[in-house]
Amino acid sequence: MAVTSPPKLDARKLRADFPIFEQQIHGKPLAYLDSAVSTHKPRPVLEKLTEFYETSYANVHRGVYTLSERSTAEYEGARQKLAQFVNARSEREIIFVRGATEGLNLVAYAWGLVNLGPGDLVVVTELEHHSNFVPWQYIAGRTGATLKMIRLDDNGELDLSVLDSIAAEGRVKVVANNLVSNALGTINPIEKLSAWAHEQGAIMVVDGAQAAPHKAVDVQALGCDFFAFSAHKMCGPTSVGALWGRLDLLESMEPFNLGGHMIRKVTFEKTTWGEVPAKYEAGTQPIAEAVGFGAAVDYVTAVGLEAIEAHEHELTAYALEKLADVPGIKLYGPPPERRAGIVSFNLGEIHPHDVAQVLDSDGVAIRAGHHCCQPLMHKLGVAATNRASFYLYTLPEEIDRLVDGLHKARKVFA
Ligand SMILES: Cc1ncc(COP(=O)(O)O)c(C=O)c1O
Repeated sequence: MAVTSPPKLDARKLRADFPIFEQQIHGKPLAYLDSAVSTHKPRPVLEKLTEFYETSYANVHRGVYTLSERSTAEYEGARQKLAQFVNARSEREIIFVRGATEGLNLVAYAWGLVNLGPGDLVVVTELEHHSNFVPWQYIAGRTGATLKMIRLDDNGELDLSVLDSIAAEGRVKVVANNLVSNALGTINPIEKLSAWAHEQGAIMVVDGAQAAPHKAVDVQALGCDFFAFSAHKMCGPTSVGALWGRLDLLESMEPFNLGGHMIRKVTFEKTTWGEVPAKYEAGTQPIAEAVGFGAAVDYVTAVGLEAIEAHEHELTAYALEKLADVPGIKLYGPPPERRAGIVSFNLGEIHPHDVAQVLDSDGVAIRAGHHCCQPLMHKLGVAATNRASFYLYTLPEEIDRLVDGLHKARKVFA
């Protein structure tokens, strides 16, 4: 039997594509271990943005002149790339939004306000980023629906044994969960939750912000109804993201933002809506950013999502092993085989901000805070954690520098 090894990437070579790494921070090479919050941008994406502005920029879907048609073709070309990237059935299922947050708000408002009411249950999890929690809490409050929580076990994984008891409490109408947790790196069982949601007659809304950059995504295989993600977390520009949604749902829903090109006909008495996706793209869109998003998809696809996933897996296993030897450290989250390239921890009683500041003095950038996951922090019994997160350009020696910095922090705050 042929043994196939996972595809490999060459992080050292890829780093040369990222101009940000040419600088030093406090006289040391930049060790950027905060890619879960936002990634850096490779030259092909930066060059595409410049080339687009210099040669093809105009507003889209408005002019009949050559430049507008060229710009529209680039914008719609990016939509096609995104559709292929998540295995959508049609590019019409891709809505350009400002980011995952706006995509999730779109679903909560456009679907939730109309379809939720008293007696309905909206099920979220203790692992959600505020972007997939607060909109549901708010819309449930406005419609009289009840918010229910799937809790975590001690490993930081969802306890699905509660599903039957939740279903017994009312009509489950929405299940909302991230595919990968930004705070703990947990990879969640979306296929199972989608199947359960559909058995209940509910929609399954997936926050894919931490998944799409790091592993191959197939929305059809996930069995979900909506999937939101952001360009800036996968080598693309800020202020653009995509919401994938099932076409029949997108067609049946009300619009979210109103105005601009999202209409079919406007009279004093009444307005009718344009076709999907235009119906959800009111006003001038982030045009160049969408084109840059397409270039980012090309970049990560050329590197290979499987290779990215394997690289991060190796780094995470290495980091968990090395960090475990730091005296006083408390590590959160599941074992490496069930998590993405994210490691959260606390260093004894030292405040996470102090730890991050000591590391910064050595050029190592990590996150300190609640990671927009206050319900999770409450569950963990802490106000904040430190978080190191990895991407295709992360090197093992940067993890060594992280560990050295933690030893240093212990000495500084002894
Ligand atoms: C899991 C998760 N969901 C949603 C978001 C929000 O993404 P954005 O700020 O790009 O809208 C983030 C960003 O950190 C995230 O990690």
